[in-house]
Amino acid sequence: PTSSVCLLDSKDAGASTDCAHTLDSIPGPSSWPLFGSLIELIRRGGLRRQHETLIHYHKKFGKMFRLKLGSFESVQIGSPCLLEALYRKEGNYPERLEIKPWKAYRDMRDEAYGLLILEGRDWQRVRSAFQQKLMKPTEVMKLDGKINEVAADLIKRIDRAQVEGRMDDLYFELNKWSFETICYVIYDKRFGLLQDTVSREAMDFITAVKTVISSATTKHYIDKNLERDSKEEAGNFLSDIYHQGNLSKKELEPVLSSHASKLLKPSTANSMLWVIFNLSRNPSAQSKLLREIQSVVPTGQSPRAEHIRNMPYLRACLKESMRVSPSVPFTSRTLDKDTVLGDCTLPKGTVLMLNSQAIGANEEYFDNVKQFRPERWLEEKSSINPFAHAPFGIGKRMCIGRRLAELQIQLGLCWILRDYEIVATDLEPVDSLHSGTLVPSRELPVAFVPR
Ligand code: HEM
Repeated sequence: PTSSVCLLDSKDAGASTDCAHTLDSIPGPSSWPLFGSLIELIRRGGLRRQHETLIHYHKKFGKMFRLKLGSFESVQIGSPCLLEALYRKEGNYPERLEIKPWKAYRDMRDEAYGLLILEGRDWQRVRSAFQQKLMKPTEVMKLDGKINEVAADLIKRIDRAQVEGRMDDLYFELNKWSFETICYVIYDKRFGLLQDTVSREAMDFITAVKTVISSATTKHYIDKNLERDSKEEAGNFLSDIYHQGNLSKKELEPVLSSHASKLLKPSTANSMLWVIFNLSRNPSAQSKLLREIQSVVPTGQSPRAEHIRNMPYLRACLKESMRVSPSVPFTSRTLDKDTVLGDCTLPKGTVLMLNSQAIGANEEYFDNVKQFRPERWLEEKSSINPFAHAPFGIGKRMCIGRRLAELQIQLGLCWILRDYEIVATDLEPVDSLHSGTLVPSRELPVAFVPR
């Protein structure tokens, strides 16, 4: 059944003044005193399978439903028209669900908040300081040299570490690749994590990041970075932002901690893992991708950001992989004013969960949802609504690392596919489990066969 809400699939969804429905009339699963729907959620596989349960509820209750888990209540939205409506009504300072323990922790230590949890004008100031460097395509393209240096190390690591094509812990290797790349881009510091023996300093740094977070360590690298830069008078990522003059050193640090926390829940490594998996199960897509890489990147040369511009199939493979196997299934917003969405009026303070995974898994928006078919993104008469693809969120609070992550994965794939065929070692199902990001339920059944 479809819900009664959001029947408009047009640009003006939510513009209607005939807002017959209120929060109370939104459908949803049975809710019990104290527990809400928690028991049913647990019965359906618990928090690790919550994303599957949410997709099930969207199928049952439609594009918008209400969910109560204990005392936490949210309105779940899962349609491009509702995302678009929300986007069009977004104020200047959109808010995500508060992460209270994190705030309390940083308050206790008298540390500034990171982008992830900042709100209001403070968020906007920090965001705009980083926006230019991270979201402007021409700026991000300049990072390809550093990204490539680490990608070359990943290939050497695969060369050395694979036994009959299989890597012992591919996810860990990709985490190190992702970590090393971001540290190099942001701190201008190589740790050598992909070497066979990892230095004491690198281990200390990883430990600091894992214990969320001795900011003394990140401060140390920021200081070193800025100090070196002022001596060399050569621009680099951090000091360029610092010298714009809008952020203090204290404010630079938590932005990095939230990058670092991203490394704890490493979406880039995770998305890379899934694209490797999807290519292993779709050899014809893989061959087509290799042909594109070979036709655009001259033999013996490193792939560059400019090359990626001429590689529509590569970009489509990543999009398709993020649709079929997203890393982050949903994000949230807390409404800062009464808002009309579809034909519902939602009060200020309502927590919305924006379920991009449910949109990608809905036959109404994608034919044969389970099929990995990158071509769907390239068809001339493609009817895919732009808001049906939101793996990085939407609007002003969209992931600020999006372009960096995309470039890193795209270049990484060029490096890997030129040297290796990615082969499936079994065809049994691999489920995804929710653990901050969506991770495979078992070691990926893939092997890297040298070409
Ligand atoms: C926010 C996904 C990589 C830094 C987000 C959000 C999503 C997301 C869904 C929430 C957006 C929203 O609420 O609308 C991903 C995925 C990645 C990735 C799938 C990799 C494939 C990165 C990287 C960085 C990063 C590499 C760091 C350079 C951030 C930050 C925010 C954020 C700081 C908060 C932005 C704000 O509130 O203004 N990410 N992310 N992400 N991401 Fe990422």
